[in-house]
Amino acid sequence: MASNDAPARTALGGKAYPIVDHTFDVVVVGAGGAGLRATVGCAQAGLRTACVTKVFPTRSHTVAAQGGVAASLANMGPDNWKWHMYDTVKGSDWLGDQDAIEYLCRNAPDAVYELEHWGVPFSRTTDGKIYQRPFGGMTTDFGKGPPAQRTCAAADRTGHAMLHTMYGQALKHSTEFFIEYFAIDLIMDAEGKCRGVVCLKMDDGTIHRFRAQLVMLATGGYGRAFFSATSAHTCTGDGGGMVLRAGLPLQDLEFVQFHPTGIYGAGCLITEGARGEGGYLTNSAGERFMERYAPSVKDLAPRDMVSRAMTMEIREGRGVGRHKDHIFLHLDHLDPKILHERLPGISESAKIFAGVDVTREPIPVLPTVHYNMGGIPTNYHGEVLTRKGDDPDVVVPGLMAIGEAACVSVHGANRLGSNSLIDLVVFGRAAGLRAAEVVKPGAKQEALPEDSADRALSRLDRYRTANGGTPTAELRLKMQKVMQNNCAVYRTGEVLEEGVRLIDDVWKDRDDLRVSDRSLIWNSDLIETLEFDNLIVQAAVTMVCAENRKESRGAHAREDFPNRDDANWMKHTLATIDDSAKAVRIDYRPVHSYTMTDEIAYIEPKARVY
Ligand code: FUM
Repeated sequence: MASNDAPARTALGGKAYPIVDHTFDVVVVGAGGAGLRATVGCAQAGLRTACVTKVFPTRSHTVAAQGGVAASLANMGPDNWKWHMYDTVKGSDWLGDQDAIEYLCRNAPDAVYELEHWGVPFSRTTDGKIYQRPFGGMTTDFGKGPPAQRTCAAADRTGHAMLHTMYGQALKHSTEFFIEYFAIDLIMDAEGKCRGVVCLKMDDGTIHRFRAQLVMLATGGYGRAFFSATSAHTCTGDGGGMVLRAGLPLQDLEFVQFHPTGIYGAGCLITEGARGEGGYLTNSAGERFMERYAPSVKDLAPRDMVSRAMTMEIREGRGVGRHKDHIFLHLDHLDPKILHERLPGISESAKIFAGVDVTREPIPVLPTVHYNMGGIPTNYHGEVLTRKGDDPDVVVPGLMAIGEAACVSVHGANRLGSNSLIDLVVFGRAAGLRAAEVVKPGAKQEALPEDSADRALSRLDRYRTANGGTPTAELRLKMQKVMQNNCAVYRTGEVLEEGVRLIDDVWKDRDDLRVSDRSLIWNSDLIETLEFDNLIVQAAVTMVCAENRKESRGAHAREDFPNRDDANWMKHTLATIDDSAKAVRIDYRPVHSYTMTDEIAYIEPKARVY
């Protein structure tokens, strides 16, 4: 499909930033699992769709997802979507919106079968069905039965298999891809409608202005605000940054997931599927300590609980290694054939990054930042929400968000493992379906104002010519260390208050950045600075919201407020910023205490024990 190239223009009082204009029905920003699934859906609906991505699609972070995708297929034993929904609500520590959770769980099986039909090479049972493994917090019979085998797996390379298959589907539908284009900012009009997005084509330095009836942000999480993360270096929350700069809120950023088993030192992921296949954790006494913390599900407790238990063991002097600062994950008792068939990827990672032969030795592991439960608030159609007056659920016209960039909110305060991949495809599909309803193929779009790229270009120009005393890499490291030290698995008021001060200092020091490369072609110094700018605002929101939330819920564990406080805190945080004043403003949004249909009743809050 051809783009509508316009003559080059110059913006910003004479500085030469040639602009190439494009018009599409829909522009999807990001080509991970959610972005690709939405792209396919929009193309299937006959919409002229562009997918803009800063990395080649199959290098998107979804490629790193290992253990699987949750859906109640019941291939390995009894299961149904209502049990999946119960587990997800309980896993979210009752911060998830139950209408959205119902949408996720009841649509999950169809979404997985669709992937199967598209060609995802799932592992198989002996009778040819999709293989499913146990994952943390997934149970049967509304939490009363044994663990469920609900996580559909392609060995331990499920994300890789899904991403490649979906990219193939997107190509089949002749979507237009704009690869290695970096999104600088959204184009918002005076009425608050999103009209497009301005991007930098990284290999030639041209500016591209995309006009669209609908922009979908599928830009992933901001894990790289932390020092040690399983997230790729590209996970810099670019969509969240754009949304904050557009004056819109982000939701629940205080909830950051630590995956229990990042490789000690390297941070690479060792899938929870390793424990699903029978792996277990031990402390320096060789004790399987999870039996004390979660007597019924043990090593298959949800991630927030396992991460806290590991941290506690280390704190109380029972960590392993010379510095007693990590934990062992054992797979050495498992049949090498199983390791070879079902966990080949992590066997290789353990060898490369920890020098460990998993058939003989335990893997040294440590809780590592893995996922952002918070993000851009949306409904279950993927439409972005904001507050207007008393209504906190007002749809922002022209703007959608999906995947880790979004907060639907199905994961609430803590996501269950394998609920991320299913979130990508269920809500990627939902966004495509909604686009088909609200976008008219080829409808004439109003001309954009001549200055519609100026906000993005002045941002670009400010950083391209930044002439201060602090290199971006230095300030980014400072931010990452503050986040790691002051916004960790366990939090206290004192440490968080210090964190707010320290992260505010980093935010202020942004005015002193120095970018040494002034060019526009493959300028990684500039791109990393734009990414840092996206990260620092979300780091600040995370820290301020964590300090503000005076309770413990899911992944937010306050030692000074150890209990969940439903009376005062069963509500979503909404945060906006004043970027020039370096200030975060906090507001709230009620948790949806209703389901989508009357086929299942609201699941009443109770103590979260496993
Ligand atoms: O452990 C894992 O394989 C990660 C899965 C997930 O985050 O959903």
